[in-house]
Amino acid sequence: MPKNTKKSTTSVKKKGGAQPLRASLRLRIPNSEAHYGGNLVSGSKILEYFGDVATELLIRLDGDEGLFRAYDNIEFLAPVYGGDYLEIEGEITEIGNTSRKMAFEAKKVIEPEPNIAPSAARVLKSPIVVVKATGTCVTPKNLQRNPE
Ligand SMILES: CC(C)(COP(=O)(O)OP(=O)(O)OC[C@H]1O[C@@H](n2cnc3c(N)ncnc32)[C@H](O)[C@@H]1OP(=O)(O)O)[C@@H](O)C(=O)NCCC(=O)NCCS
Repeated sequence: MPKNTKKSTTSVKKKGGAQPLRASLRLRIPNSEAHYGGNLVSGSKILEYFGDVATELLIRLDGDEGLFRAYDNIEFLAPVYGGDYLEIEGEITEIGNTSRKMAFEAKKVIEPEPNIAPSAARVLKSPIVVVKATGTCVTPKNLQRNPE
């Protein structure tokens, strides 16, 4: 996760446990999601995945899907192409009255190598951080069920 979120993460624990609140997705971006020239995928697609991770975090914390209120920072750091495999991670970094601050990171772990063959692909030796973001979700008080 981004360096500047590590400190606050340690203060967010599941009820009765020592685990930070984290969730993740691992997926392949299908070629049908390529939106721009050269098979480039729209950045908004990655934000959709961050939204799915945020929703899981809110379900785990509040027993409700909640709503995304605002992003305060989004950085698109490397291009994402159809056929890439991504790991998407998110964690709650701060819990307010109804607000839940979160940090997200998407990493590319496998990429196609179409110059070698249409079916060629390689596992990256070091995953590439392609997008990172921080934002705030809201679970209205009357919907917070704290199942755990
Ligand atoms: C999310 C929503 C329910 C919040 O409504 P609200 O209760 O009137 O929100 P408020 O502006 O009073 O703020 C609620 C909390 O968010 C915080 N907040 C508000 N704007 C914020 C911002 N720009 N950045 C960070 N936190 C913010 C407030 O400080 C407050 O925190 P607290 O309860 O912990 O003190 C409402 O704005 C909404 O329905 N938005 C649309 C959501 C949506 O469709 N998202 C996309 C799909 S998920």
